[in-house]
Amino acid sequence: MSLAGDRCPLPEKGAVFIWPHFWYYLYIVAKKTLLSGVKPTARPHIGNYFGAMKQFVDLQNAHPDAEKFFMIADYHGLNFVQNGDEMRRFIIDLALDYLAIGIDPKQSIIFKQSEVSAHTELAWIFDTIVTMPYLMRAHAFKDAEAKNKEINVGTFNYPVLMAADILLYDTDIVPVGQDQKQHVEYARDIALKFNHIFKTETFKLPEPLIIENVGTVPGTDGQKMSKSYGNTIPLFASREEIQKAVMSIVTDSSGETPMNVYNIHKLFKSEGKLKTLYETNKGKYKVLKEALIEDIDAFIKPMRERREELAKDEKKVMKILEEGAKKANEKASARLIEAKKRIGVI
Ligand code: ADP
Ligand code: TRP
Repeated sequence: MSLAGDRCPLPEKGAVFIWPHFWYYLYIVAKKTLLSGVKPTARPHIGNYFGAMKQFVDLQNAHPDAEKFFMIADYHGLNFVQNGDEMRRFIIDLALDYLAIGIDPKQSIIFKQSEVSAHTELAWIFDTIVTMPYLMRAHAFKDAEAKNKEINVGTFNYPVLMAADILLYDTDIVPVGQDQKQHVEYARDIALKFNHIFKTETFKLPEPLIIENVGTVPGTDGQKMSKSYGNTIPLFASREEIQKAVMSIVTDSSGETPMNVYNIHKLFKSEGKLKTLYETNKGKYKVLKEALIEDIDAFIKPMRERREELAKDEKKVMKILEEGAKKANEKASARLIEAKKRIGVI
């Protein structure tokens, strides 16, 4: 794969970067465009953080020369939050979360998806070339169908809007958790299809960036940690909340190493240090859980305090979103105009 140049040849369809260590892929993103997003639907949890959000900050800090867009995916979130006051609150909260983890508006563009109408406009254009059977193969659709849920059009179309989010910015790299891999593949397929139908190279093919070991962070029940499963440890949890969540971790009473505790613990402490701790405390679940509480709290505390500070000035946060939207609109509208020219409406 060549990494030089702006429109370099990209890897085969479905290619995914899964690297054991962050440092292995740092060189890839120099002078590239990164884009990712999170839905403002609930408090983020440590799965969101280690799986995706931490990479936003690490990449930002390591690559001042890359272009970075971090989006609040409110129109995607609308499939889940259908209450205006709640939505407004979740949006500000997510902006605060982004800032508190270290996303710096001087280096990265933070914006609300709904402020850039090119996203929904391009999604419509894509709707006309994407088939229903293709969208019916999406995991989220299949899961909803398996549960006999009556699915709304927004959920069915979710991958199309996400493709528009990504493709409007000539995105090279999309840092996400494992569960979003298929969505980035959809964006690649849709870009290829558009380029093929309209005999153009309008859209660049993006690649997901998923980090091995943290691509799927387990929850307190050992399943994937998720806002919708009630098994989370909130990223900005108070000490009491951390205590409650850790004490609820389901332990395997037959083994001496409680794997559900260990698997979360290794996000916060090196495996070397954990080895000693878990060997000297074999079978002592309470001691191990208490150690985990200490480690999570020590890690979260500075971010939690930073967030509390930032929350005192919400006007400043609104201003950051406004400025972000301006910059995002600038970039997105250029690509949309090119697409509109290709399809012949202008
Ligand atoms: P959730 O799945 O909890 O509703 P989102 O859909 O808002 O969270 O996900 C935001 C980002 O966090 C995405 O990149 C997603 O892949 C990542 N993510 C979510 N849950 C996990 C997890 N348990 N482990 C790793 N990454 C995750
Ligand atoms: N679907 C993503 C999630 O559930 C959020 C998202 C929306 C996103 N648009 C995106 C992520 C574009 C990366 C790029 O987490």
